[in-house]
Amino acid sequence: MHKDVKEILYTQEEIAAKCKELSKLIMNDYHDKEVILIGLLKGSVPFLAELSKHVSLDVTFDYMDVSSYEGVESRTITIKKDVDQDVKGKHILLVEDILDTGKTLSTVMAMFLERGAASVEIVTMLDKKEGRTYPIEAKYVGFEIPNAFVIGFGLDFNEKYRNLPYVGILKEECYK
Ligand code: IMP
Repeated sequence: MHKDVKEILYTQEEIAAKCKELSKLIMNDYHDKEVILIGLLKGSVPFLAELSKHVSLDVTFDYMDVSSYEGVESRTITIKKDVDQDVKGKHILLVEDILDTGKTLSTVMAMFLERGAASVEIVTMLDKKEGRTYPIEAKYVGFEIPNAFVIGFGLDFNEKYRNLPYVGILKEECYK
């Protein structure tokens, strides 16, 4: 275990098993639809890779990189990298590492609906329900976690720890 990890929450085996479970639900819901898996960079990459291995449908991948901030009157997102394809009439599954306040994904979801997507849903590896301040829920949730700062399997602190093969709680002394 990495020296900065206080506790491992989910091992790579547990995450892989959960991805298999989620993929069954996804295949059941999308077997007759054209679906685009859109990964939010950078954290979703390991989860998207593990999940998509088990989704035996004709899916396509795309990636988006956004930063989101709250202005005085409205919330804005800056698109650092947009998707490459036209999403009109397509079914979108947004793939995220963790859903916290919901700020980023509620804005991204609204944006794709405005662009004419047929549907937009979320699959998230982790859900910090206590942190939610925007009215948004993921259709597919890997694990619900308490309000702790977690790292690994794509999740970072200052861009570090994304490569850890498990999800763990970061020791408080590392960020306080
Ligand atoms: P939201 O817009 O508040 O839902 O933010 C979601 C994003 O916040 C995630 O994609 C992560 O980049 C980041 N985030 C939230 N909680 C954590 C955490 O515990 N560890 C690492 N990143 C986190």
